[in-house]
Amino acid sequence: MIRTKVIDAIKSTNFGEKILLKGWVRTRRGNKNVSFVALNDGSTIHNIQIVIDNEKFGEEFLKPITTGAAIAVEGMLVESQGKGQTVEVQADTIEIYGTADPETYPLQKKGHTLEFLREIAHLRPRTNTFGAIFRIGHNMEMAIHTFFHEKGFFCFHTPLITGSDCEGAGQMFQVTTLNLNDLPKDKSGAVDYSTDFFGMPAALTVSGQLEGELGAMALGGIYTFGPTFRAENSNTPRHLAEFWMIEPEVAFIEIAENMSLAQEFIQFCVRWALEKCTDDLNFLAQMYDNELIERLHFVVDNDFVRLTYTEGIDILKKAIENGRKFDYTVDWGVDLQSEHERYLVEEHFKKPVILTDYPKEIKSFYMKQNDDGKTVRAMDVLFPKIGEIIGGSQREEDFEKLSRRAKEMHVPEKDIWWYMDTRRFGSAPHSGFGLGFERLLLFVTGMTNIRDVIPFPRTPKNAAF
Ligand code: 4AD
Ligand code: MG
Repeated sequence: MIRTKVIDAIKSTNFGEKILLKGWVRTRRGNKNVSFVALNDGSTIHNIQIVIDNEKFGEEFLKPITTGAAIAVEGMLVESQGKGQTVEVQADTIEIYGTADPETYPLQKKGHTLEFLREIAHLRPRTNTFGAIFRIGHNMEMAIHTFFHEKGFFCFHTPLITGSDCEGAGQMFQVTTLNLNDLPKDKSGAVDYSTDFFGMPAALTVSGQLEGELGAMALGGIYTFGPTFRAENSNTPRHLAEFWMIEPEVAFIEIAENMSLAQEFIQFCVRWALEKCTDDLNFLAQMYDNELIERLHFVVDNDFVRLTYTEGIDILKKAIENGRKFDYTVDWGVDLQSEHERYLVEEHFKKPVILTDYPKEIKSFYMKQNDDGKTVRAMDVLFPKIGEIIGGSQREEDFEKLSRRAKEMHVPEKDIWWYMDTRRFGSAPHSGFGLGFERLLLFVTGMTNIRDVIPFPRTPKNAAF
């Protein structure tokens, strides 16, 4: 018999039909005569109730069917008389695949804290919360590919191992096969990379953008979707050392169109979640955040406010004059902290915000320089609860200006000669941005710590599992 998934079984009205279910026992309760097993197979947040005639199977046989055990059940689908479910299955045969000793299985029925569950990240996908989060994560991935595919963008894989530091922030994880205890040195005493695997220093990428631009300057519109790595020592609820980024890059569009694309993209994803992840979202809303659904609708229904960094600073300074306190100082030229971003979004505008035209000193070398000589055509999309969810810009397409800026920012041209070639041959205005996948998931699930929206988080001093 072919296995029926719980998600299909609970919707079925084929009462009297024999079906085969396989899954993990969430709970077992009952009395002397009958047992009720709540079975979950991960296909949905909902369990299906299995009704077991104790006498038919015998106490000894049923004993190991405890929370966490994996079983297969063949039985008849019937309408349920019980509360909270429409169908149940009357067990004819039961096979026990694997038991879970109640003395040692950590996921007993009682609620666990998210902190505790992080310590057992290998088992937490079996909880309702993490089942919901990871199903939503999958749906967001499908939404992302669908959005760009329908717009005629091509998914373009950029390398994970690279010789160039895209963001120039020096936060790269080095990749080497050299023996760290016995490094080959050249005459000046520097490490001789000619004998290293790639014959040069290499690292894990912080962004696929530079290679993405090469794709856009040929295919018109591309997007990358892959892991990125940052060795930044920020132990915050919003930073991971390994996260996934989606980076569209588009030829022939300027900053305004780039902003519209970013808004349309996020709204598409959030709408997708509202339409396709209803049960999981309702569960998370009920358990953790009763304003979640409202906040998601709010983002879908409202245009994002657009203003410049300079205007943003003025608003923050006025707020400070009026007595608003922040941990970090605000002055033209400083990088905004998450508290500032959230003030603009949650308190001042009460809408998602796109800030543009940042001081060039706090942004990367590749951004298009404005005529004022002070700012670049950057854009950050700021979201309630999250702060920055997207970072992007129009790119500098002028060879001379780009080359000068790279020098000023100590990006060696020998490392990016291939990137410079796009400006040498058939250069054109183009723009793009990067969305942090886990930041999107934070927003959509209402979780407050980024460690809880990726199955196995990597953060400073932590690479377990
Ligand atoms: O603002 P960032 O650094 O921009 C770039 O990497 C550009 N190359 C993107 C582009 O224009 N193609 O990062 C983009 C986004 C951020 O807005 C944030 O959502 C996410 O990536 N992000 C992180 N997410 C989790 N952990 C971290 N340490 C992150 N750093 C950035
Ligand atoms: Mg950024």
